[in-house]
Amino acid sequence: MGTDEFGTRPGEEMAALPADFDAGLYFIGRLRTPWQARQDCPKNGLQTDALCTVELDPAYVPGLRAVTGCTHLILLYWMDRATRGLVVQRPRHADGPRGTFSLRSPARPNPIALSVVELIAREGDTLRVRGLDCLDGTPLLDIKPYYASTDSRPEAQVDRAGAEP
Ligand SMILES: C[S@@+](CC[C@H](N)C(=O)[O-])C[C@H]1O[C@@H](n2cnc3c(N)ncnc32)[C@H](O)[C@@H]1O
Repeated sequence: MGTDEFGTRPGEEMAALPADFDAGLYFIGRLRTPWQARQDCPKNGLQTDALCTVELDPAYVPGLRAVTGCTHLILLYWMDRATRGLVVQRPRHADGPRGTFSLRSPARPNPIALSVVELIAREGDTLRVRGLDCLDGTPLLDIKPYYASTDSRPEAQVDRAGAEP
């Protein structure tokens, strides 16, 4: 399948992005992973047991207090090498076009990704974790505790029968 000069495939659509941003962000650190190229990254954090490192900027290290009580964390990160503005995509795994908001693709107006990771250890300003799927150096936006009691939805489905295409 071909792509045009914006990297879109036939059937894909870009939104006209506003000229100005609505909010600013602070990158609070970087994620260190074994992957330098997108094609080498796992598609999700369960596809790998690679040990990765969360490097927190010194200003935010006090925020790690009590974090070692958590077995699992939610990491939110910024897919800094993704295309922005794609609203309809043709993923290789799907048989037709899909709306961006029905996908976990990194290409989206705000390229925010998330993973639930296992916290292996804290070593000073860094956390050792398992369950990441991003390129080495990906900027970190936030860290939150994962609550199995409220975050887990075992009954959830994605391709439920009868849904609009
Ligand atoms: C399918 S996304 C899933 C992201 C996240 N787990 C989520 O659900 O939001 C993972 C893929 O994004 C791509 N990727 C990883 N790091 C990236 C980065 N920093 N910028 C752009 N794309 C990236 C790789 O192709 C990787 O396999």
